[in-house]
Amino acid sequence: MPNTLAPITDEDAYLRALNQARSAAAAYHGGGDSQMDDAAYDRLIDAITAYEQKHPDQRAADSPTTLVAAGALPEGSVVHATPMLSLDNVFDAEELARWAQSLGKRLGGVPRGFHAGPKIDGLAVAAHYREGRLVQLVTRGTGTTGEDVSHAIGTIDGLPVELDTPVSVEVRGEVVLLQSRFEEANRIRVAHGEDPFSNPRNAASGSLRATGRGYTIPLSFYGYGLLSAANGETGRLIREEMTHTELMKALGSLGVQTVDDTPVGTLTSPLIKDIQAYVGRVATQRADLPVGIDGIVIKADHPQDQAVAGSGSRAPRWAIAYKLPSLEVISTLAAVTWTTGRTGNIAPRGEVLPVEIEGVTVQFATLHNPGMIARLGLRIGDRVVVRRAGDVIPQILAPVTSARTGQEKPIELPTVCPGCGGEIDMSQERWRCLKGRACNLPASITYAVQRDVLDIQGIGPKIVAQLVAQEAVQDVADLFTLTLGQLTEATGSEKTATKILDRLAAAKQQSLARVLCALGVRGTGRSMSRRIADFFFSMSAIQAASAAELRQVEGIGAEKSAWVIAELAELEPVIAKLAAAGVNLVEPQKSAPAADTSGSGQGAGAALPLAEMTVVATGTMTGRLERLSRNDIHELIEKAGGRSGSSVSKNTSLVVAGDKAGSKRTKAEQLGVRVIGPDEFAQMVSAYL
Ligand code: IVH
Repeated sequence: MPNTLAPITDEDAYLRALNQARSAAAAYHGGGDSQMDDAAYDRLIDAITAYEQKHPDQRAADSPTTLVAAGALPEGSVVHATPMLSLDNVFDAEELARWAQSLGKRLGGVPRGFHAGPKIDGLAVAAHYREGRLVQLVTRGTGTTGEDVSHAIGTIDGLPVELDTPVSVEVRGEVVLLQSRFEEANRIRVAHGEDPFSNPRNAASGSLRATGRGYTIPLSFYGYGLLSAANGETGRLIREEMTHTELMKALGSLGVQTVDDTPVGTLTSPLIKDIQAYVGRVATQRADLPVGIDGIVIKADHPQDQAVAGSGSRAPRWAIAYKLPSLEVISTLAAVTWTTGRTGNIAPRGEVLPVEIEGVTVQFATLHNPGMIARLGLRIGDRVVVRRAGDVIPQILAPVTSARTGQEKPIELPTVCPGCGGEIDMSQERWRCLKGRACNLPASITYAVQRDVLDIQGIGPKIVAQLVAQEAVQDVADLFTLTLGQLTEATGSEKTATKILDRLAAAKQQSLARVLCALGVRGTGRSMSRRIADFFFSMSAIQAASAAELRQVEGIGAEKSAWVIAELAELEPVIAKLAAAGVNLVEPQKSAPAADTSGSGQGAGAALPLAEMTVVATGTMTGRLERLSRNDIHELIEKAGGRSGSSVSKNTSLVVAGDKAGSKRTKAEQLGVRVIGPDEFAQMVSAYL
């Protein structure tokens, strides 16, 4: 898709463009499905603005470029004593610097300070508290009047019915649906016979405004404004001279969730270069945030600066939105393909017409499982919302049902396993080949012998295929009872076979985490296996764990805990064979917390060089670390008492940057996280190398 729209050259085209923009804005603000993604809408508005600048005489009085929310907001019955304005936008550092300069000119000097916080992508509301009690909730509406949505009081996380102090205030902020709740929200919605929402923002707006549906979708609130109540005593909380930073603190102290509470927090500084660095940090982190954000809002922090700068009819002059390119785009679902993975999981993959999301071309996107396809009523040819999250594969969120032409075709679900042609277990949302791991046995054994798992050098995919063909291996435990004869037959050389036998003998001493990982339980790759092993210390404890106990491990939710229990039960004979073959099934270092003789009561970890630290390794390791695989490094970090992280955030304590360390290093530098080289790191953990 081009990044600019062909210029509008005549009045007819101008009027058509106005209509297009109005209907897109109506869908966006009215909780309906927009057929245009944010980027396409912004390009349209740019083209309209350019035309209006050239032909001011033709500018429509009600042009979407001059009205709050393009004039598309549903009118309501509640008057906002202080209007709820829009924000003007900037799109890059240069435009931000220019805005700051022009603000400085208006103020006759540099602003006393800037406040920057995430621009939450939800639905703006005003929450009226009387003596600490939430009495009315109103949408932004036209900015002057809004709709009463008080029916939602008590259903929104972060917007308490009762404040911690009995003050009379008006709280402003954004109502959102957390990203993690989107799938669940659509499940509820579809179960009630309605079309799925196309994205979390839509879901928030549709859910907040709906009454009497007989179900509630769990919404959340993030505050960004605190005003005295229009007609009442404030309880002496708000003072005129308070900065925006102070107001946000006060809002938080009332028990309301604010923009300060997002993982990116907020920043106050007099220097625009600090603000720019903050924008950079938010931009790198936003795909992983629990809440959708579409930019950063930068405000003059001081009330006097705000008063002097003043406001226009649409937007204040003391604040600006730094818009970030959308992570969600609309494309067309061209095909769906199915594969059986090494754990027996049968997964659909969507092929979409190539689209660019933040400079990356997306062509494939996950559809999770057949249950989701059915729930969303997805069809081939559908326009679909595709979202790119952090490091994971892009996802198809939902179809844009309003864009249907009638030409869409149903998605054919497999009736037999795409791997082996056998039966499918369809009893759960996620389908699985009835043969489980055995369906794709070569893939599951090849995975288990990898360097990062059991580390049995000399066995590659070819030998695995041989062993499977010979029926010498039917599961991972069979590896440990292979005979010299079987291995000689598979490799064609007794010498090689002898070497492999030695390695197999050594592999019996691998850590519990690696053995667990080798079993190939769904959802338990290398790092999850380490977390589980660290928590339970022995295979028997893992096997005996209840769902609630498993959920105490970070990253295990209801679904994963159920798989782990079911699959470990299924794997019981394999685990018994491993035990019989003498394979280690305990975590020796961790099973002895009695080793804590420090008397500190903090466990043995307190004396370890990386105790309490989250460490991220990136780039190519050199020196003493050169020969270690990424997994070896993770293990090294954990042996030295640290936690190994995969992405850099403000919670990262240390980044080990090898050669060609790219974005993670940059991000660490932006966040002020300590960065060291492989040699320095090797020294820190030398006792464990
Ligand atoms: S300040 C007068 N701060 O973005 C200043 N707005 O496009 C008004 N929004 O109407 C808004 N996060 O609904 C502000 N941290 C934030 C925000 C935020 C989201 C919304 C708000 C506003 C719209 C403007």
